[in-house]
Amino acid sequence: MADIIDELTQAFAVSTQQLQTISANFQAEIQAGLHGKASSFKMLRSLLPAPSANLKGDFLSLDLGGTNARAVWIKLLGNGRYTQKGRVSAALHTGSRDYRDAGTQAHELFDFLAALLTKLQPSSPDGYEGLGFTFSFPYRQESLAHAELVTWTKGFRTNGVAGQDVGRLLSEALARQSLPQIPKLKAIINDTVGTLLTAAYSDQNTGIGSILGTGHNTCYLEPRDPRTGGPMIINLESGNFRQLPVTPFDEYLDRESNKPGQQRLEKMVSGKYLGELFRLILGHLISRRQCSTTDIPRLLQVPYSLNSADMSIILIDSSSNLRGVEAWLEQKINFTSSTMADRTSMKEAALMLAKRSARLVGATYAGILRHIDTTLSRQHTIAVDGSLYEKMPGYRSYLFQALQETLEIKSPQITVKLVQNGSQIGGAIAAAMAGHRQRV
Ligand code: GLC
Repeated sequence: MADIIDELTQAFAVSTQQLQTISANFQAEIQAGLHGKASSFKMLRSLLPAPSANLKGDFLSLDLGGTNARAVWIKLLGNGRYTQKGRVSAALHTGSRDYRDAGTQAHELFDFLAALLTKLQPSSPDGYEGLGFTFSFPYRQESLAHAELVTWTKGFRTNGVAGQDVGRLLSEALARQSLPQIPKLKAIINDTVGTLLTAAYSDQNTGIGSILGTGHNTCYLEPRDPRTGGPMIINLESGNFRQLPVTPFDEYLDRESNKPGQQRLEKMVSGKYLGELFRLILGHLISRRQCSTTDIPRLLQVPYSLNSADMSIILIDSSSNLRGVEAWLEQKINFTSSTMADRTSMKEAALMLAKRSARLVGATYAGILRHIDTTLSRQHTIAVDGSLYEKMPGYRSYLFQALQETLEIKSPQITVKLVQNGSQIGGAIAAAMAGHRQRV
């Protein structure tokens, strides 16, 4: 048993040397992408610089995430402060309806989103100054309220959206609802941009915004955008980075995915894929006769049946006989006779995946920091949102450790900050910036 687990642990380990190589390659690809050369990054310009702390007003924010959509009323108070006044959320997948499926037409998805805005409780009696739409996918933007989807990611396949202007699709859906309360769409942003804006509203050192949830991506504040010469937040779509040390499990997952070859970093680090890698490893342990059962439980035969929340349940269990893992095995995958050895190797498997994810991501942040401040002479805040960073036991410290290791510093000048609901608050900030002609 130990041998196979040791082998796996080694295959999933990322050494300091590898971290530094990844970081240097990441930095080189930013440089290349910025100057129009071949790069795995899409370098999507947000048309926004950092926000002023003085923005004020009532805004409506609509957020389409990987699994839910949310509508939120945000009041920006100035001085980097805000409050959330109303909120409604709905799952994209309920019963037999899945708005992410190829069977769903664009107008059905956007009607669902527009209808969500009408369900907000409480809503502002005085109306709103604008609507911000957080659309967490790669798109190209020539103006703030228009955005053309380049390609779906995170397994979305809704028909008729790729190549289209999601600003137009949303505005048309809002018109179909014909509600006087709904303000004009002012800005479309990516969730990473929302996270950066939210942190930067109160902290001027913020130069990086990142999501570690269902998907993974990072944006940063480019000090000198080649087109304008000024500061500009750029969405890297860093999940597509691919100069990475992969295992046969990663190759298999990629081959079986609906977009082989794409989003290779995301497929090694984000919640949607970590659960799947975990399922593949558990299946491997059983089929290599490393478990007290030789039958692969039914659930483990179903792709994407596990998620990162399952891994968190396992990682949090520090009881001497791993009772929490035992209960999870019984309840979730109907494996009722696990031994302590089974449970230990399962915990090891979850740990190696969580660590690898955090270390790879830490190396990418180091690459960006080197790009924006070669000598690391300033304070930097990295704003992160998402369930992995927020909830996975140990994740934050593995990430910070990797950042320090990569940069070869004890990094007192680097802060990694959890920014909850950055996607929605950032939507409001972007809408306010559009109103204040802060565009670049
Ligand atoms: C996917 C999307 C990206 C988004 C990320 C996190 O990688 O392509 O735009 O920021 O998920 O939600």
